[in-house]
Amino acid sequence: MTTQPSQAETLLGFPADFVWGAATAAYQIEGAAAEDGRGPSVWDTFAHTPGTVLGGDTGDVAVDHYHRFAEDVALMSSLGLTAYRFSVSWPRVQPGGSGPVNQKGLDFYRRLVDALLEAGIQPWPTLYHWDLPQPLEDAGGWPERETAYRFAEYAALMREAIGDRVVNWTTINEPWCAAFLGYASGDHAPGRREPEASVRAAHHLLLGHGLAAQALRGEGRRVGAAVNLYAVSPASEAPEDVDAARRIDGLQNRFFLDALLLGRYPEDVLADVQPYDLGVREGDMAIVGGPIDQLGINYYNRFFVTGREGAAPAITSPFAQASPWPGSEHVGFVQVGRPVTAMGWEIDESGLAEVLTRVGTEYPSVPLYVTENGAAFDDVVSAEGVEDPDRIAYIEAHLRACHSVITAGVPLRGYFAWSLMDNFEWGWGYAKRFGLVYIDFATQARIPKSSARWYASVIERGGIDRSPAE
Ligand code: FCB
Repeated sequence: MTTQPSQAETLLGFPADFVWGAATAAYQIEGAAAEDGRGPSVWDTFAHTPGTVLGGDTGDVAVDHYHRFAEDVALMSSLGLTAYRFSVSWPRVQPGGSGPVNQKGLDFYRRLVDALLEAGIQPWPTLYHWDLPQPLEDAGGWPERETAYRFAEYAALMREAIGDRVVNWTTINEPWCAAFLGYASGDHAPGRREPEASVRAAHHLLLGHGLAAQALRGEGRRVGAAVNLYAVSPASEAPEDVDAARRIDGLQNRFFLDALLLGRYPEDVLADVQPYDLGVREGDMAIVGGPIDQLGINYYNRFFVTGREGAAPAITSPFAQASPWPGSEHVGFVQVGRPVTAMGWEIDESGLAEVLTRVGTEYPSVPLYVTENGAAFDDVVSAEGVEDPDRIAYIEAHLRACHSVITAGVPLRGYFAWSLMDNFEWGWGYAKRFGLVYIDFATQARIPKSSARWYASVIERGGIDRSPAE
């Protein structure tokens, strides 16, 4: 007689208090772009400019989450999520970017937070996921120091509005993208191609984070930032490739990690971006590197880079024209033949373990969360629904990497799938689907994919299947 293995033998279990979440961002899902007093953000202006977003798509309607949030919270509840990471649209709550508050905008987030708490789901707001109020860009945007102070004021007003009910706060999302896709390559809003402005934007985003963290902390609130980190490998051992890897790792990873966790910028990166001046003033770095309670890490893939002349640039948007790597414009990005997602990004879960281990061992210890991880595939609906085995395999492999680093002692406390549902994928518009839930953009119907059901079962069991080797 054969006996069935017990659950403990087949399950790769995560800690009981591990946070199981999914993430979204305001401009990508809310829609209602001109409703209830919301002002324009740089993304409204950018997306309405021809030749910026595939298909001329905009976030005007997006997935209409502004009107359907109750249905969406019910969906999260049915998946068993224990946390939901969303972002607050700054121009919805403070259309001018300074000055008067829009109560109707604040009410939306109050209602969302209440609905989440009622459903037993922890709200994890991010205050800046790239939608700068247009009036602040008109005054110079993130390259202007003043923007950092406006950001801290906005953080304080959000603390006033929901700070009694929200514990976990993220100040800025992926400052690399906001600074370098926004101001160097111009692939993202506001679409400027000014390398010097981009490095100043990077510093002011970090300064804004530090000032906002000061405004938010207290009364048990926990504050962090979310950075997009990559594993970076040289395409070969040739010195120019090794140097390329140092440069990209420097500007993508170390620049932000050293600033946030050590209160300084790496010397080699400062040398790489010369002659551009970041505009750092005395005292800034103590603010940037002030205490945080947790760090969010967004991970998608590994870069293989080369310093060889004439190599292909990174594909960061369908309309890419310039490099988002000030001072390292010559660096090329190569593919090594691994399977790719619909974004053309090679799948490499070992990079996630590498990144988490690095942050967990080379920097002062701080609780870590994977605040984004996921994949786009060309999902299709059939009579049976949406079958997305590739997404399940992607997430499972990355959760396996998470489990391995937790076992090794890295303080990883939670995982947020990107994304809860299909949405406006920036320069790619609605052409790339990252959701666990499929959206029929014509009807706004929400159709959970097989990955959503699978993720729900992972949450319910508290882990994933052991592989035969484990
Ligand atoms: C990240 C963004 C997120 C989403 C994913 C695919 O860079 O933070 O909004 O676009 O990529």
